[in-house]
Parts: sequence; C-alpha cells; structure tokens
Amino acid sequence: MNLRHNKKIESTSFFKTADVTRFRRVLLRWYDLHKRDLPWRGEKDPYKIWVSEIMLQQTRVAVVLDRYSRFLKRFPTVRALAAARVSSVLAEWSGLGYYRRARALHTAAGIVAREHGGRLPQSAAALAHLPGIGRYTAAAVASIAFGEAVPLVDGNVERVLQRFYGPSLVRTQKDCWRHAGQLLHTERPGDFNQALMELGATICLPAAPLCSRCPLAQLCRGRKQFSSPPRVQRTNAAEERRKVQASYRVLLHDNHVYLVQRSPNATLMPAMWELPPVGDKRVSLAQCVRLRHSITNTDFEVFAYLEKRGRASEIKSGLATWVRVDRLNRLPLTGLARKILRSFSLLD
Ligand code: ADE
Repeated sequence: MNLRHNKKIESTSFFKTADVTRFRRVLLRWYDLHKRDLPWRGEKDPYKIWVSEIMLQQTRVAVVLDRYSRFLKRFPTVRALAAARVSSVLAEWSGLGYYRRARALHTAAGIVAREHGGRLPQSAAALAHLPGIGRYTAAAVASIAFGEAVPLVDGNVERVLQRFYGPSLVRTQKDCWRHAGQLLHTERPGDFNQALMELGATICLPAAPLCSRCPLAQLCRGRKQFSSPPRVQRTNAAEERRKVQASYRVLLHDNHVYLVQRSPNATLMPAMWELPPVGDKRVSLAQCVRLRHSITNTDFEVFAYLEKRGRASEIKSGLATWVRVDRLNRLPLTGLARKILRSFSLLD
C-alpha cells in the first residue's frame, strides 16, 4: 500500500485527511506507551517474527507465551528448523493446536534454507509464496521485519475498523483491507499494524469495548455502542459451535503411560499421540478429572480416568505404545492429551 491510497481517504466525507493524520499519530503514541511487553516485541530477526505470527494465528497470546521461547530455543534459526524432523517440530508445537501450521512452517523453513540461502524473502508478495503464509502473515512479517508499507487485517483489526467507520462503510473483508490501507502509517507500518491489532486485543474488545480508555474514541463512529458489531461477511459463514462429551483413560503402569497414535491420514492432527478413549468398560469415578477443551468449532466436556494398573492388551486397535513418563514431552501429543496428562501431574 502506498501514499496514493492514503490520499483516497479525502473522498470519505466524514473522515478528512487531517483526521487520518491524527488517527495515525494518536494510535502510534498510544501503542508506544501502552503496548504489552511481549517477547516478540522489538524482535529484529525475521525468522522469529515469522514464528510468532504463525503461533498467534488462532491461538491466544497467553498460550503462545508459554511455547514461543521454548520453540525458539529448540529451533533458533530457519536452518535449525529445516534440519529438524517433522515429529520433533510437532512435539514442540504440542498444545498450540492447528498442527497444520507447524507442518507448513517446517516445509517453508526447508524451502527458505534450500532456495533462499536461509534468509526469508523480504516482501509480502514473495513471502506469500511460502506454505502456510497467507495474506495476513505475509503482511505482518513484511511490515514488522522489513518495514514494507503493507496493511493487514486480522479478526481484531476487522472489529476495530468496523466499529470505527460503522457497519455501512465496512461490510466485507475487502472493505477492511481497503480502509486498513488508507489508514496505514507508511513510515512505521510494522508498529502501526501491531498497534491496530493491539487496540483490538486490549481495548476494542468483542463484547464490551473499553471506549473510555480508547485513544481513538473521539474519532470513532461506534463509540459507546457497547455491543458486538455485526460480523463482517465471509465466504464461509462460521458454523455454530458443537458441544461434545468425551472420555479418556490414563493407563499408568510402572511409570509408563499408554498412548495411541492417530492415523497419518486423519484430517485433524494426523499422526499425533493421544490417550485411549474409554470403551464400554466401567471405570472408577474416584480417579476422574473433568475438564473443558475447545478445538475449532467444538467445545468438549472431557472426563479422564486414571487407572494405575492398566494393561496394553485392553486396547485392541491402532498403533499404541507405553511411554515413560519423563519422555512424554518428546512425542507430538495432542493438546487435549497434554492437558489431561498435566491434570494428573504426569507432564510439566
Ligand atoms: N496478533 C498477531 N500478531 C500480533 C502482533 N504482532 N501484535 C499484536 N497482536 C497480534
């Protein structure tokens, strides 16, 4: 996006060029003062910025905080990631969910190592050719790591813009990208993009925006309307969330836990390790934990039963194995298996 686009805003009658300038100034000043202190803030290494942006897709900051530094310690460079086995990458990704991201990151690291001498391509257009890098991630990495003046739109930015301009001016994602391009601060594009996302994540909240603390409140059309804006139209309308109950067994025998591997052809979490489900067998309620887990559009209510003298022969199908408790961390476990094992203090 370039300055030509910044001029176009003059045709939006209620929002003048002077307002655009003010918008940028006010937002950036707020960001400089109030941005959260996150490990990827101020990072200069494009690879590390890339990893943070992939992790942050569809995953809450609190969860990413737990995993980001560990991942980079294990795979400190593109080449280290490219040289690793995919199973190690998946193991390190465990708990973050959406494992396709980890596979794509690994494949893309291979391409960068082999075809780009270990250096990430420096433009959004070139980045978007790599597996797992869509329009958002390409723009995030290009603007933050390389200072390219490209706008970006994620769920937070979408909400901010829709409230700011009002639903009549922002109906579709295309509208969001256009407005983001018009507003973009072309000299500090990375900070500006992060500032818009940060505003959405911390002030312009989905259910109850904190307008009294918003630096843009005076310019905003949606201020004081404490309700969610209608969602921006998408090609695939979001489905209703499903509620599902599931029960798993935690078979513990001689300091080993019994795990089964998902099929390599499974659509979700292929080849990852999980706990065996409870079959018809009755299990003792005394050793049960109940927890909640959400994946994509499904909310699970999960019951997990600890059986201290479980036997492998009880499970008949699938690839399965006993894993020593201190080695559990080395396998690519599903997020749910990890959560359950943690709840029984079998995993850190
Ligand atoms: N969400 C995803 N990436 C982000 C970033 N760099 N800053 C703020 N929010 C984000």
